[in-house]
Amino acid sequence: MLELSKLSTSPWSSPFNHLSRDRVRFRSLKPLCNVERVRSIDDDDASSANRMFILGLGFVGQFFGNQLTKQNWHVGGTCRSEIKRHRLEKMGFDAHLFTNDTEETKNLSLSCLEEVTHLLVSWPPIVGFGDPVLDRCQDVLQSRLGNGNLQWLCYLSSTSVYGDCNGAWVDEDYPANPKKASAKARLAAENRWLSVGNNLGVPVQVLRPGGIYGPGRSALDTIIKQEILTENQRMREARRYTSRIHVDDVCQALKATIDVPSPGRIYNVVDDDPAPRTEVFAFASELIDKKWPGKIKASPTAGAYRQGHERAEGGEKRVSNVRMKNDLGVKLLHPTYRSGLEDIIKTMENPFP
Ligand SMILES: NC(=O)c1ccc[n+]([C@@H]2O[C@H](COP(=O)([O-])OP(=O)(O)OC[C@H]3O[C@@H](n4cnc5c(N)ncnc54)[C@H](OP(=O)(O)O)[C@@H]3O)[C@@H](O)[C@H]2O)c1
Repeated sequence: MLELSKLSTSPWSSPFNHLSRDRVRFRSLKPLCNVERVRSIDDDDASSANRMFILGLGFVGQFFGNQLTKQNWHVGGTCRSEIKRHRLEKMGFDAHLFTNDTEETKNLSLSCLEEVTHLLVSWPPIVGFGDPVLDRCQDVLQSRLGNGNLQWLCYLSSTSVYGDCNGAWVDEDYPANPKKASAKARLAAENRWLSVGNNLGVPVQVLRPGGIYGPGRSALDTIIKQEILTENQRMREARRYTSRIHVDDVCQALKATIDVPSPGRIYNVVDDDPAPRTEVFAFASELIDKKWPGKIKASPTAGAYRQGHERAEGGEKRVSNVRMKNDLGVKLLHPTYRSGLEDIIKTMENPFP
């Protein structure tokens, strides 16, 4: 089904129908590229007219969406299960189901997109298929978004598009050379969304984050839950360099692309320290042991670095964040994993009852 729906009784209704709003004022918004009309997302007067829709209300989408709702933005978005949709509604989002298992593409209604002023694409491409919405209904999507309301379009990509760079420092001008199927699909999706922006006359921001961590998803959680590493994670264990970014800093970068007039550029979103994951896990273990002594067993990563180190050499990169800092003025809240993890553990409840 390929379906974007909110309620079974009225599946194609606008996510914003139930909200009182001033249509005239809303319609008066000008495109983001008009520098004089750009307003800060912290500006209450402006934010009450802003409507963000997030394709993929996952980890980043929910963090960012929460920040925006606190600034009086209307925030809608998609997920793939009814249980999650209910949970998201309780959190204050206008949540819609979007799944890919029907051939009824003609019935797809993306009418809820007609009123959005900001669109964040925060779902991954499907290998062998493409972007969840563009490969089936780019035309419908464009016609819904093409009424002049949309000011900002951002695609959350990944540093995986650079491929293997022999440990070199990689900025946004470094040629993308993905080898893995998922990274190739990611680069293709980037290009598809850039072309959507081009067709609509709206600049597209492309953010390429490193590994995203934050409260509920970090090395601390992996150790506490004693999660077994996937093959992919084991491979990453073996690397000397791994780029990462705290979710609060992803949100900062997203806000900055809204606030700072931009012609639509690509930005790496990573912290200052591409440290190996084993170092991060060792530090996380220390933090846990300090706060709850004697509670953790062996780290799930023990030994992986030494075993895999030779195998991974040559397939690495250190991703530069200079453009994000210089152009967008982002001052990282967590320049290293140390500050990020220390911040997360501060508010963690005792997981060892
Ligand atoms: N996490 C990282 O370390 C990292 C690093 C670099 C780039 N990224 C990319 O940045 C974006 C946001 O990351 P995140 O950590 O917030 O991801 P996430 O927590 O996995 O959330 C992804 C969202 O996309 C939805 N989704 C996934 N596949 C879909 C499909 N085929 N059709 C429809 N919806 C789909 C999910 O639906 P449900 O809510 O129903 O699950 C979820 O809402 C993603 O594109 C991710 O790949 C992530």
